[in-house]
Amino acid sequence: MDIKVVGVLGAGQMGRGIAQVTAQAGCNVLLLDVDLAHAKQGHERIGKDLLRLVDKGKMQSAERQTILQRITPNQDLKVLSEADLVIEAATEQQVIKEKLLSDADKVMKPEALLASNTSSISLTKLAAVTSRPDKVIGMHFMNPVPVMKLVEIIPAIQSSEECVQTIKQFAARLGKMVVTSKDSPGFLVNRMLMPFINEACFALQEGLSSPEEIDEGVRLGLNHPMGPLELADFVGLDTVLYIAEVLHRELGDDKYRPATILRNYVAAGWLGRKAGRGFYNYTEK
Ligand code: 3HC
Repeated sequence: MDIKVVGVLGAGQMGRGIAQVTAQAGCNVLLLDVDLAHAKQGHERIGKDLLRLVDKGKMQSAERQTILQRITPNQDLKVLSEADLVIEAATEQQVIKEKLLSDADKVMKPEALLASNTSSISLTKLAAVTSRPDKVIGMHFMNPVPVMKLVEIIPAIQSSEECVQTIKQFAARLGKMVVTSKDSPGFLVNRMLMPFINEACFALQEGLSSPEEIDEGVRLGLNHPMGPLELADFVGLDTVLYIAEVLHRELGDDKYRPATILRNYVAAGWLGRKAGRGFYNYTEK
């Protein structure tokens, strides 16, 4: 299938990045959010991100304009009838994703594919709420989408081989490398990442070291670009906790239990960078 028009559901951090790389690959993008103002805000933020590339001499101004013109902000799901592929990138909550996928499914062309950028929710469950389970698949992008090379592809047990191959080719067209995971809690990347972040939370909670030294240990000792607590703030502590709870509940092993400090920070609203405070304070920077 030739993918020309892509619907992106959600103009937040992930949806914006997905819309940007998709438009850069030459597709027309329908960028949807709960209302037009949010969708337009998303479009403006993409414009700012692309301007940084122009300022650095990495993109021509005319190319930036072309990319921005390929992205149309909208709030009406009905426009998805034009899409060859819809990628859902809404908040990581099963009920929200199920509703969006089910609503999108009702207006989409019968042959169109439906992907979710979920970071932990079962694709098999999400596929089951649609009338096209063989055409539903997980496309898990990494944050920040324009920078990170990986897309994790998660076929639902209902996904057809044709759907898997089309999505792999599409990811390659976006310039991404692919790893494939079975539909299992946390898939592959977050199955490894979340216990790592959670262990850093336990180390902090037990007073082994300061946040700065925990992160420095990983940055300098393991050569990661960010330490685990810094990365947790970057991802959002609410998202980290949600995924950690999925791993704990669905794998049924107490080794995945979220650290109390993580639960407390989320309860306090200290959600990381987006809230101005998480393991670090961002209002002073
Ligand atoms: N959007 C677009 N580009 C961005 C960006 C953003 N949000 N943030 C940084 N960049 C670009 C910069 O423009 C710069 O580009 P250049 O090299 O062409 O000039 C490049 O990335 C490096 O940025 P900086 O020099 O500003 O800063 P750093 O060198 O510190 O890099 C980083 C920033 C790329 C975020 C780096 O710290 C990093 O790779 N961190 C780890 C990110 C990571 O692990 N992501 C995965 C999270 S897990 C996930 O997403 C799964 C989910 O389900 C939880």
